[in-house]
Amino acid sequence: MKPVKLGLIGVGTVGASTALVLKNNAQEIARRAGRSIEIVHASRKSISKGMPEGTEDIKLSSDPFEVVNDPEVDIVIELIGGYDPARDLVLKAIENGKQVVTANKALIAIHGNQIFAAAQAKGVNVAFEAAVAGGIPIIKSIREGLSANHIQWLAGIINGTSNFILTEMRDKGREFEDVLREAQALGYAEADPTFDVEGIDAAHKLCILASLAFGIPLQFDAVYTEGIGNISTEDVIYAGQLGYRIKHLGIARRTEEGIEMRVHPTLIPEKQLIANVEGVMNAVLVMADKLGPSLYYGAGAGADPTASAVVADIIDVARTITTDPQNRVPHLAFQADQIADIPVLPVTQISTAYYLRMRVDDIPGVMADITRIMGESDISIEAILQKEPESGAPQATIIMLTQKIRELHMDKAIEKIRGLDTVHGEIHRIRVETLGSS
Ligand code: HSE
Repeated sequence: MKPVKLGLIGVGTVGASTALVLKNNAQEIARRAGRSIEIVHASRKSISKGMPEGTEDIKLSSDPFEVVNDPEVDIVIELIGGYDPARDLVLKAIENGKQVVTANKALIAIHGNQIFAAAQAKGVNVAFEAAVAGGIPIIKSIREGLSANHIQWLAGIINGTSNFILTEMRDKGREFEDVLREAQALGYAEADPTFDVEGIDAAHKLCILASLAFGIPLQFDAVYTEGIGNISTEDVIYAGQLGYRIKHLGIARRTEEGIEMRVHPTLIPEKQLIANVEGVMNAVLVMADKLGPSLYYGAGAGADPTASAVVADIIDVARTITTDPQNRVPHLAFQADQIADIPVLPVTQISTAYYLRMRVDDIPGVMADITRIMGESDISIEAILQKEPESGAPQATIIMLTQKIRELHMDKAIEKIRGLDTVHGEIHRIRVETLGSS
């Protein structure tokens, strides 16, 4: 059978590794794909840097449109990231009847609906396994492995940089900025690291997972997004004393009222396996009605792990080139005409438990005022920890864990507590998820 010919756009960290995996594992890949697969044309902005050693025979251009317009290319591999010109390149590749593989989560989260509609109309694939959780085959697992199930919820550590920062803060008491610099040097952080620390990268990935799990259109703007910027070493320590770990989680849940999609720091019981996912590793816990819980763990970033997912997609697409487009696995797991218009809930409508930390005057009656407000707001308290003031200091720290309550009620209670003369400064709130069976 004739070889499948690839056009590679972007020869950075992941692009270079993809070229090398395809070369070094060529025989094994051909055994799996049933035909050989080779890059025939690549593009990179700084053309003078050339191709990685051992792949110099590949034609190299500086203009990526030369790759998408090359008649020899069957599959375009987009590895430049970002919104533009990635969107125009992918749409042009589709218009030219080419298959596409991309690792670009921002592109899929924001422009995926348009891209998949164009691909569907043209009868081509757009594969994007590497867009979520790097090398972990989470998209394939949800889209194919779990296709017998109703997925009830999923919760994932899907930004390695945030997880690395939280882990180092807890284990070594390191400062946020210092750990972030190391994550950048190791090549884990995004080109713009605010995407990592403000939760945007995780929100891109969560919106993709939610679409695959529930058969809804991609709706990045509907994801409630909060990063790890407000988490202090103090919170990390108190959470530990209460038997919890703070993780930056992406949570998608189907409820009777609609879909929750949210990304925020979360306290989770330390005995949960996912609470013990450390450093830059990623993990996604999926609750499905027939399988029950299943956990997917692995490297969520880095050159070779991401290239592993890119090449797996290439092999998948190579296998399906000869398949009737109507019978291929649908882009968003459900058939395109079955994508449902289920409402996504605003964060005020979600129900969850909370960790609260506040500074109060160390005088009688303060705790009674706070618990009265909680009671009037129908909020049940699970645990209270009071840290005595350091000698001579007038204020004590109170840490509280509550039971589940709608966010709207918690907002109102926090507002009232903040209004007490005896409470000072910010009331720090972190949501708590037990990640049990319901
Ligand atoms: N910046 C991302 C992370 C890279 O830290 O997880 C992988 O998408």
